[in-house]
Amino acid sequence: MAAGLSLFELVGTLAVAYTAWTVSTWIYNVYFHPLAKFPGPRMAAMTAHWKMWRYLVAKDHIPKMFEVHAQYGNIVRLHFSDPDAYNEIYHPSRRWLKDERLYGSLVNGMSTWNFLDYSSAKKRREILLSHFSRKSIIELQHLVQDRMDILCDAISRQYEAGKSSDFYHAFKCFSLDTITSVCFAKPVNATDAPDFKAPIVMAMDESLNTLQVFVFFKLARTLAAYMPSSLLVVMNKALQGYVDFRNVLSKQIKEILADPSMLSSAPHPIIYHSLLDYKDKNAAATNMGFDDLNEEAFVLVFAGSDTTSNTATTGVIHAIENRRVYNALKEELMTAWPVLEERPRYEQLEKLPYLTAVVKESLRMSHGIVTPPIRVVPYEGTTISGRAIPAGTVVGMSACMVHWSESVFPNARTFQPERWLGSAAKELDTYLVAFSKGPRACVGINLGYCELYLAIANIFRRFDMELDGVSTADLTWIDFYIPLHTGPDMRVFAKPVSS
Ligand code: HEM
Repeated sequence: MAAGLSLFELVGTLAVAYTAWTVSTWIYNVYFHPLAKFPGPRMAAMTAHWKMWRYLVAKDHIPKMFEVHAQYGNIVRLHFSDPDAYNEIYHPSRRWLKDERLYGSLVNGMSTWNFLDYSSAKKRREILLSHFSRKSIIELQHLVQDRMDILCDAISRQYEAGKSSDFYHAFKCFSLDTITSVCFAKPVNATDAPDFKAPIVMAMDESLNTLQVFVFFKLARTLAAYMPSSLLVVMNKALQGYVDFRNVLSKQIKEILADPSMLSSAPHPIIYHSLLDYKDKNAAATNMGFDDLNEEAFVLVFAGSDTTSNTATTGVIHAIENRRVYNALKEELMTAWPVLEERPRYEQLEKLPYLTAVVKESLRMSHGIVTPPIRVVPYEGTTISGRAIPAGTVVGMSACMVHWSESVFPNARTFQPERWLGSAAKELDTYLVAFSKGPRACVGINLGYCELYLAIANIFRRFDMELDGVSTADLTWIDFYIPLHTGPDMRVFAKPVSS
């Protein structure tokens, strides 16, 4: 061996060097790092593996964060628990970088969600905010109602066959069909699948698993980005539906790029009208080729499906179980929507106080995104919750800390729409953060609200319902960026009403 070292000695020397480096890093992190003065579990201070363990192995990230905040206080390793800290971190004036580990693009293209800096994201956000403006959504609401009619017909058929319906997957199909209809005029018709177990819906849950691993293993992420999709399917068969779906999106984009005039035959405005027609062609963020369009389309589908369906499932299951809520909601809907055959209008439903309270409470209880949306403190440093935070620190706060704060929402883990009624309720709006806040808040909020109002109103007006062997205690989830449902199918006997 060179320099007279045997293989055994070489391996031994490397192992000693690695151990010495690791231990000295731990000591530095715990005693000398600029963040060492902030409290938290020693393991979390020593190594990032603590967080990885919580996410990938123990799968208890959010309950653990509540536990450590109870033990160490409001600031734990730069995660915050004081509800007011949320509006400080995600304040409109704080245009901080998103952290690359969570948001970095996996592929060549860039989506609105992936841009780390606000100035790059701004142009793209403007396009989407205008495409999904309140005015546009009011004009396109018939597409949402169409998908709801299809869903209600499918639920009625289940009842006629003597079966309950799995509302968790039913709402997933509805939201996926809606987003693909509104964005591309190409609904994937997931709702047609037997018992709502559409392959694409099942594959999307499966792919979240993989994406979670990518957050912690950059090398895996890079390799996957260059891996042919056929190989991905060989490695995990459940991803077939996901790969097929991406191919459908890519095919449509290629066709439009080859012949943009085909956009004029689309039945309604789709996102490519907006994304390809933006006037400011000099801005890098808006010079969109295939890769960017492909990524934007894909992210819109992910961003706009599970978020909406989780909220609808949470609200509907709670409101069926709690008969006081159920009766109050039905009564209000019967008065506001007396003729069953007439289609409801989103602008009218929005004015109903009890339905509005149910929508807000559903958003509060389902959180939107549960992972802390992490941001990097800029070079001048900042102050959060009265503490000076140095430049470069990665800070974040899970929406759960706000929504489940007993000081803001007494009996926070209980579904109580009434908390949103009355004069004092207005102040609570500040603490409803399911769509996040600030410069990187949700761009699909108008569509999200429109879907929730129409979905909840249709389901409660058109069916008499009972839970089938499940309860709200089965609405369990783990932090997979979104709250990923881990409980059983949420089955409901839904009997269509005749008038
Ligand atoms: C109930 C429904 C929805 C909820 C609760 C929700 C929630 C959120 C949240 C919390 C964020 C911030 C995420 C982060 O910073 O990591 C976000 C961002 C985003 N949402 Fe939504 N969303 C919903 C529906 C939609 C829909 C329907 C669309 C598409 C039309 C959409 C598109 C987006 C996009 C593109 C972003 C990224 C914005 C940026 O980074 O600048 N969302 N959403």
